[in-house]
Amino acid sequence: MAELTDQVIVITGASSGIGEATARLLAEKGARVVLAARREERLNELRDSIEADGGTALVVPTDVTDREAVGHLINTAHETYGRLDVLVNNAGLMPLSMMEKTHEDEWEQMVDVNIKGVLYGIGAALPIMTEQGHGHVVNVSSVAGRRLFPGGAVYCGTKFFVRALSEGMRNELSNKHNIRVTSIEPGAVATELTHTITDEDILANFEGMEMTPLESIDIAESILYAISAPDRVNVEELLVMPTEQAM
Ligand SMILES: NC(=O)c1ccc[n+]([C@@H]2O[C@H](COP(=O)([O-])OP(=O)(O)OC[C@H]3O[C@@H](n4cnc5c(N)ncnc54)[C@H](OP(=O)(O)O)[C@@H]3O)[C@@H](O)[C@H]2O)c1
Repeated sequence: MAELTDQVIVITGASSGIGEATARLLAEKGARVVLAARREERLNELRDSIEADGGTALVVPTDVTDREAVGHLINTAHETYGRLDVLVNNAGLMPLSMMEKTHEDEWEQMVDVNIKGVLYGIGAALPIMTEQGHGHVVNVSSVAGRRLFPGGAVYCGTKFFVRALSEGMRNELSNKHNIRVTSIEPGAVATELTHTITDEDILANFEGMEMTPLESIDIAESILYAISAPDRVNVEELLVMPTEQAM
């Protein structure tokens, strides 16, 4: 396993769940983590907690639907530390709903955050990574990027996009520019992700579900595995499921 010491790692969606756990773990392993999301207070608390444990963290409040703001995030990380080793494109939301209910605003939000937000991060990071001759982009897709389920047509579509994008990026960037690309595909993880669901039928289905989900640290550990592999290794995809999740 390669060292993360002094590596500069930008994590979007760091204010809760998988992003927060990933920031804590990578900082513990010596990385300098740059924390992005909209809830600034949560990011400040996380930075303080990381620093109290001896780590290094920088907060850059960012709405990933704003291309300029994402450019500012990536440039701030680079200007502050003089390098950009890893971008973890993790911010996302999942307001599941049945298509017949036409929750168009929610469809648009998912496209804006889960697709365009990811592209903005990549667009800002690639010029720096190609110039420095190395880099690693970790895109958080989902098992929903491989399998469809009722209420997930649009969400799954965004996560299929992220997985396809990751494969295309690896094909074009890894050999030519020494940029590794990983698609992380979690099954159900206990986080705040379900809080944006407004479709009552979907919520009722969730209530009836009995299963031990993954914890955010389980996904943080898989991101750590991918980015700390030796330079010759590109972990292209990791599908990580709860043992009790059937599909
Ligand atoms: N939980 C699961 O079961 C599961 C399974 C597979 C994949 N995933 C994926 O894992 C990723 C992280 O989700 P999570 O489960 O950790 O849920 P979460 O706790 O709700 O975290 C989502 C993160 O995204 C951020 N975010 C949302 N909209 C944003 C915006 N416009 N700009 C910047 N940040 C934004 C949120 O921060 P702010 O609200 O502070 O902006 C939050 O930090 C998502 O991409 C999700 O699709 C989750």
